[in-house]
Parts: sequence; C-alpha cells; structure tokens
Amino acid sequence: MIQELIREALEARSRAYAPYSRFQVGAALRCEGVVHSGCNVENAAYPLGTCAEAGAIASMVRAGGRRIEEIVVVGGDAPCTPCGGCRQKLREFGLPDLRVHMISPKGDVLLTRTLAELLPDAFGPDHLG
Ligand code: THU
Repeated sequence: MIQELIREALEARSRAYAPYSRFQVGAALRCEGVVHSGCNVENAAYPLGTCAEAGAIASMVRAGGRRIEEIVVVGGDAPCTPCGGCRQKLREFGLPDLRVHMISPKGDVLLTRTLAELLPDAFGPDHLG
C-alpha cells in the first residue's frame, strides 16, 4: 500500500515550484483508499509559500475527504520532517496514531513517526467539542 504513496510523493516532488529555496518537497496521503498529493509552491513574497503537505490536504478536502490514514513526505536526502505548522494541519485530519513516513528522493523509507510523536499533547478539533 505504501508503494503507491511513495510513487505519488516522488511524482509530486518533481512538480514542486521552489525557485527560492531550491528545496523541492512532495507529499502523498491516503484517504479512504484514494491517494492525494501535493508539492511545495513558493512565492516571491516568501511567507506566502505553501508546503507540500498543505497541498495534499487541500486536494483531499476538495474531494470530500476528512481523514488522513497514512502520509509520505519527501524532500532531500535527510528525512523531511513536516514543519510545525504542517504538523498542526495534519492533526486536523489525522488521529494521533497516524503514520508519517519520510522517504529519500530514491524512494527509501528513512524514518517513520506517528503524529503523536511529532506533535505530542496536540491541540485539536476535540478541544472545541
Ligand atoms: N517544506 C515543505 O513543503 N514541507 C515540509 O515539511 C518542510 C518544508 C517546504 C517549504 C519551502 O518551500 C521549502 O520546503 C523550504 O523550507
């Protein structure tokens, strides 16, 4: 199952728009058997750039999905751990045991963490009742 996520994350990364950082990122997630992917999209007004995870989440929500079941992220040779903001975005649609796989540009799994490990004691939708 993870093979499809790996393939899609790598494909998404190849489409990244990252002329400023030159750091291309791809992400692919599975929601109810459907794979959604995204890449980072930078902007000349730097803070307006968006992360690959955000793109994949937007695609999922656009398709009516609400639950991230597994996600793969690929950046450079070192594990591309999601930024703090993306960890919170993942929490919105992911349970604490969500597996987040960081892979290399060659497609090897470098690191796997649960969302709870990446964002312990997270604030989430449950807090709002
Ligand atoms: N980036 C992502 O897309 N996802 C991450 O998890 C980490 C960082 C992007 C944002 C920016 O375009 C570039 O990587 C360098 O920070």
